[in-house]
Amino acid sequence: MKVTAATESVSSIASDAVVVGCYSDGALQASAKEIDKATGGALTKLIEAKEIEGKAGSLTTVLAPAGVAASQVVVVGLGDREKLDRGGAFRAAASAAKQIGSKERKSAAFYLDDEWDADDASAAVCGAIVGCQGQDLYREKKNLFPFEELHWAGSSDDVLSAGQSLADSVSLTRRLVNEPPSKMTPVAFATDAEAMAKETGLEVEVWDEKKLEVERCGSLLAVARGSEQPPRLVILRHNGGKAGDAPLALVGKGVTFDSGGLSLKPSDSMKTMKCDMAGAATVVGAIRAIAELKLSVNVIGLVGLVENMVNGDSYKLGDVLTARSGKTIEVLNTDAEGRLVLADVLDVAVEQGAAKIIDLATLTGACVVALGLDVTGLMTNDQAWCDEVAEAAKTCGEQAWQLPMFEEYGEQIQSKVADIKNIGEGRWGGAMTAAKLLEEFVQGKPWVHMDIAGPAFLESPKPWMDAGGSGAFVRTLVEVARQWK
Ligand code: BES
Ligand code: MN
Ligand code: ZN
Repeated sequence: MKVTAATESVSSIASDAVVVGCYSDGALQASAKEIDKATGGALTKLIEAKEIEGKAGSLTTVLAPAGVAASQVVVVGLGDREKLDRGGAFRAAASAAKQIGSKERKSAAFYLDDEWDADDASAAVCGAIVGCQGQDLYREKKNLFPFEELHWAGSSDDVLSAGQSLADSVSLTRRLVNEPPSKMTPVAFATDAEAMAKETGLEVEVWDEKKLEVERCGSLLAVARGSEQPPRLVILRHNGGKAGDAPLALVGKGVTFDSGGLSLKPSDSMKTMKCDMAGAATVVGAIRAIAELKLSVNVIGLVGLVENMVNGDSYKLGDVLTARSGKTIEVLNTDAEGRLVLADVLDVAVEQGAAKIIDLATLTGACVVALGLDVTGLMTNDQAWCDEVAEAAKTCGEQAWQLPMFEEYGEQIQSKVADIKNIGEGRWGGAMTAAKLLEEFVQGKPWVHMDIAGPAFLESPKPWMDAGGSGAFVRTLVEVARQWK
C-alpha cells in the first residue's frame, strides 16, 4: 500500500472514500466541519437526526454528496474526546478501513487527526492499513481489499512512516499465523524470519536439528520428535543500543501445529491450532518494527519452532526429559508442549545475556477461561518489570491483566521421579502452573510471561479486524522497547 500525505482539501480530494471524525458529543473534527460546509450542512442534519452519534467505532456513510469530490464520505465515531487514546485511534481508523475495504476501492483518504499527538496519529495510520487486510489469503473472491493508495491528512512524514512500519509488522505477524499449518512449518517460518531479517538489517542465526542436539535442547527436541518436520530455533538481533548493553529478550512459542501429540486433542479443539505459533510470530513482527523504527535499544528475539504431532517416535507420557539447563521434566501430558519448548528457549535467552525477558505464548486454554478471549494474562517474577509491560499495553490500548504466582502453584508441578512435571494437579489454575514451569528456566532474571491464547487468534471478526491472526501485542512490545531505560 502506498501511503502519502494528503495535501488537497478534504472536499476536493478525488478519492474513492474520505474518512472524517465525530466525537460523542456530536462535535465534528475540523475536516468533518469542512465537509459539512461543502455539503450545505449534510452532517449537521445527520447529527440532528441522530444518524451520526459519534459513538466510538460507529460508521455512517454518505454516498456521493454534492460539493465533495470523493465518491463517499465515511464519518467514524471517536467516542469521548477526553477518552480518545491510542487504542481508540487505532480501532476507529481500522473500522473505517475495514468497511471501505469491503469492496475493491483503489484509494481512501483519512482526514482524522486534528489535535492528536504523533503516537495516536501513527497508531491510527497503522489501523487504517491493517483494518483492510483480511485472512482470505487463499480465496479467489476476496472479502477484503487493501487500498492501493492511502492518503493521510495532517501528519508529518515521520508519523506516516512510523504508522506504516507498525502496520507492516502487524501484518507480517497476522500472515504468519494465518498461513495453513502444512505450509507454515518450522522450516518455512525460519526461512520467512531470515528473509525479513535480511531486508530489515537484523542479525539472524538459525539453529537446525543438529545444532539443537549439540546445544542439548532436549526438552524442545522431545516435542519435535513426533513430527516429520524438523524443528528450528531462530535468534534475531537488533543492535540499536550501546555495544555491550544487555539486551531486552523477546521469546516466542512457535508450535506451528498443535495436535496435542499422544494426548491427542479432540477435533474441535484442534481446528485453530495453526495459531499455536502466534507468540513466535508476535516476536518476529515486533522486532521487525523495532528495527525499522531504529529504536536505540538492544533487543534479541528468540523463537522455538516445532510441530506437535503423532508418529511411532512421539514423546510419551512418563518420559523424563533433560532440558538444556540440566533440569529433568516428567511428561504427563504431551499437550502441555509449549512450556517444554519455551523451557529451552528461555535458557538460551538467559545465556545470551538478557537483562530482562518477555515471553509470549498461546500457552493455555485455562488463561482464556480465566480472562476471556480478548485479554492477555501476565505472570511475572518481578513486579516492577511487569508494571512496565502492563503500562505499555495500556498505552497501546491492548488488554492485559496480571495473574498471581503464589508458591502453591509451584508445588503442583513437583514430580516424584524428576525435578518437575509438565502439568499441575488437575486442571484448575492451569495458566499459573504453566507459568511456574517457565519460571524454573529464567534463572531469576526479571521476566514477564504473556499468555496470548485468547487474543492472538480471533474466531469471529471484530468491527476493526477480520477474524484469524490478530497481531495483538506487536504494538505493545514496540512500546516496551521505546520505553526501555
Ligand atoms: N496450544 C494450547 C493452548 C491453547 C488453547 C491455545 C486454546 C489457544 C487456544 C496448549 O499447548 C495446550 O494444549 N494446553 C493445554 C494444557 C493442559 C494439557 C495442561 C490446555 O490448555 O488444555
Ligand atoms: Mn498443546
Ligand atoms: Zn500448544
